[in-house]
Amino acid sequence: MAAGAQAMGGGPLARLLILAILHVNFVALGLEPDFLYPLENVTIAQGRDAMFTCVVNNLGGYRVSGDSATARVAWIKADTKAILAIHEHVITNNARLSVTHNDYNTWTLNIRGVKREDRGQYMCQVNTDPMKMQTAFLEVVIPPDIVYEETSGDMMVPEGGSAKLVCKARGYPPPKIVWRREDGGDIISRGGPQGKTKVTSLEGEIVNLTKVTRSEMGAYLCIAANGVPPSVSKRIMLHVHFHPLVQVPNQLVGAPTGTDVTLQCHVEASPKAINYWTRENGEMIISNEKYHMSEINRSAYSVQMKLVIRNIQRSDLGGYKCISKNSIGDAEGNIRLYEMELPNRKSGDEDDRDISSEESNDVRSGLQGPLREGGPRAEDAGFLGGGGPLAGSAPHTAPHAIFLISAFALAAC
Ligand SMILES: *[C@@H]1O[C@H](CO)[C@@H](O)[C@H](O)[C@H]1NC(C)=O
Ligand SMILES: *[C@@H]1O[C@H](CO)[C@@H](O)[C@H](O)[C@H]1NC(C)=O
Ligand SMILES: *[C@@H]1O[C@H](CO)[C@@H](O)[C@H](O)[C@H]1NC(C)=O
Repeated sequence: MAAGAQAMGGGPLARLLILAILHVNFVALGLEPDFLYPLENVTIAQGRDAMFTCVVNNLGGYRVSGDSATARVAWIKADTKAILAIHEHVITNNARLSVTHNDYNTWTLNIRGVKREDRGQYMCQVNTDPMKMQTAFLEVVIPPDIVYEETSGDMMVPEGGSAKLVCKARGYPPPKIVWRREDGGDIISRGGPQGKTKVTSLEGEIVNLTKVTRSEMGAYLCIAANGVPPSVSKRIMLHVHFHPLVQVPNQLVGAPTGTDVTLQCHVEASPKAINYWTRENGEMIISNEKYHMSEINRSAYSVQMKLVIRNIQRSDLGGYKCISKNSIGDAEGNIRLYEMELPNRKSGDEDDRDISSEESNDVRSGLQGPLREGGPRAEDAGFLGGGGPLAGSAPHTAPHAIFLISAFALAAC
């Protein structure tokens, strides 16, 4: 075939001559049929339509020796040797096949809605003597599909436990499975020969997570791809359960009476906890004009609890508890609110300042206004615990640093 195609390069006349000399024994009348182009391999997604095009020159002029009919083009499935069609007539019992003949020399085998079993070698054959044929391969590819019955659903594991995430996909060629975390975080694999490794993506049907920590909680995506679009993915939520943990950044909070104060606790819990505040005696605090409670989500499992106590009175001093409860257990944090004298106190303008137990943006911004206007203030230094006016002695000390010092001073007493 390749030789024939090359011979064409020499022009039709040269070709005719060669054919006439070589095939003089077989050619009873006219020219011997020949293929004009090679039959091309076809790769097609399942369900689409495929076609092979066979271009045969000089078919009509050739007469098969000992036969009155002209030569014919047949399509044959090479692996089963099944004759699919002769000329335009489909022989095989397959309604999805058809043959079209046009431009005198072009024979097209059409396969509608290809199925996996249509894959294989196809032959375009001409019944010359000896017969001529060319073949090409039909590859039927299948886009990936998740096998949901064999793929993990959302999971819950206790912290320290293990989780085996499984993802199966079918398709052709067999899809490759890649795992990623939805938030782009690391997948921590501890099972391997190299010990603990952190990777942003992992290949394979199975991900073994062992000694799972809370930071591994989140959505895991298994992505199946085989080069046939579209790729598919499944999202698997890994919930890691653990006992609530309460952290208190400032356990001692001093504030002058008449001011507002904010108490804070950081809570980590999963499943989601119910968080609340109580007084020392266990009395639950409810939101009203005195108390304002809020929670800020810091991550999937951590929450910042805030309690604002307005216009502190002597009766507000004492212990406070932040409590976090989930289905696994509960935990509490303790904060003690004590009175801090404001020496040298001017009336009016300083009375309603917020005093925060921790440097937090909202409260600090409240403080920064007057600080910028007035520069270093005697009152800030005064927080040091009842010494005389220390105006200018600590001009660059930030308010929260002073709180820390005061807390130490108190603890030392
Ligand atoms: C056609 O496919 C067959 C089988 O996969 C391969 O051997 C052959 O090299 C391919 N031919 C071309 C022209 O790509
Ligand atoms: C995951 O663990 C199973 C046993 O639970 C083991 O058979 C498998 O080889 C492990 N796979 C990987 C990738 O570590
Ligand atoms: C915090 O997260 C929970 C659940 O994840 C959600 O219901 C709640 O609205 C969130 N709160 C804030 C303030 O974002």
